[in-house]
Amino acid sequence: MRTQVGIVGAGPAGLLLSHLLHLEGIRSVVLEARSREYVEQRVRAGVLEQGTVELLTDTGLGDRLHREGLVHHGVELRFEGEGHRIDLSALTGGRTITIYGQQEVVKDLIAARERDGGDIRFEVEDVAVDGLKTDRPTIAFTHDGEHGTLECDVIAGCDGFHGICRPSIPAGELTEYDRTYPFGWLGILARAAPSSDELIYVNHPRGFALSSLRSPEIVRLYLQCEPDEDVDRWSDERIWEELHTRLATTDGDYELTEGPIFEKGVAALRSFVVEPMQYGRLFLAGDAAHIVPATGAKGLNLAVADVRRLSEGLVQLFGSGRSDLLEDYSRACLRRVWRVQHFSWWMTSMLHRFGDDRYQHKLQISELEYVTSSTAAATTLAENYVGLPL
Ligand code: FAD
Ligand code: DHB
Repeated sequence: MRTQVGIVGAGPAGLLLSHLLHLEGIRSVVLEARSREYVEQRVRAGVLEQGTVELLTDTGLGDRLHREGLVHHGVELRFEGEGHRIDLSALTGGRTITIYGQQEVVKDLIAARERDGGDIRFEVEDVAVDGLKTDRPTIAFTHDGEHGTLECDVIAGCDGFHGICRPSIPAGELTEYDRTYPFGWLGILARAAPSSDELIYVNHPRGFALSSLRSPEIVRLYLQCEPDEDVDRWSDERIWEELHTRLATTDGDYELTEGPIFEKGVAALRSFVVEPMQYGRLFLAGDAAHIVPATGAKGLNLAVADVRRLSEGLVQLFGSGRSDLLEDYSRACLRRVWRVQHFSWWMTSMLHRFGDDRYQHKLQISELEYVTSSTAAATTLAENYVGLPL
């Protein structure tokens, strides 16, 4: 088998890359370890930057996104029992974020690839990349019990943090930067009307909480928990009780609406970057190259920014044979990656409970007061949150 770009992983990065390349007449094959049902149901991110929405819209993926996505103009920071609104749009010349579940983006991408005759193989096994320093790299895999080898011009490693592409690069070629946090997030989806129109990020003495939503009937709520939290220790009653406590306001005006919980999961928070994001003819994109703690709502958006640059480099390579954009891929991506790393680390540091560190808590309150009272500080949060220009 031969193709121009072999893509490992059918998450947002791999699928969008395949779609962008198709629009430019470049052939690709996507190899995915999981089933189509699994990737379409995997609940993760929910916040799309305006630049992400614009890219999806401009490439023909905007129909359902604009019908069902919820456009937000602000977010709330809540601490010491009081809410403070950050007016994202007023602070950024009218920019917005859109609430639209990652699995909806994935469904739209798979549908578009299917419509356009795209080649996505689900449930492949034993995926291995080889010949990365040659101009004919290969991907070996097993599909439906049959062994196959895909010859490519370029391989895109879009296989997430636990994928095989990054570990296939010889030891010593990459530098890793890493930070783990002493907490995780317990996330739920529940059938209930949102108690607030906008997202609420809470700094509470018992730990961080986040109120988000998916639709006028479905809420997405998160609680700071232990990094290795056993989800079975959290009954529905315990989750609601803790959410009520952390989200409560001193004036008692806020009323959290409850409803049946139909999804529950724990995610660890970590920061991770690998440099460079390229080895020979293998290019890493999305979570395969970097992870951010979820507090900044950036992981999916960063994956989109990577593959946009990668597709531009590949269009140049296959169009004119020139490779200067591809050679610059890692450097150009990493500039944005590190900006987003800092923003996500900063939001995480400002909003979570760090054990019994009372000094840190005082610093957090001081910073939150500053961010919610100074236009300069609020603008820093707003322009990073809606996303800096692609
Ligand atoms: P992935 O989505 O991980 O896709 C990688 C794919 O590769 C997977 O389908 C996997 O099955 C496949 N794969 C792995 N190994 C192999 C193999 N050996 N062979 C073949 N295929 C393989 N980001 C935001 O922007 N906003 C948010 O609000 C947000 N909230 C989040 C909340 C939670 C609870 C979590 C966990 C994450 C959140 N993120 C958020 C992060 C976001 O979900 C990720 O950054 C995003 O999924 C990255 O996309 P990706 O395509 O790079 O990787
Ligand atoms: C959601 C997830 C996030 O990580 C975040 O910062 C905001 C919202 C969400 O899933 O809706």
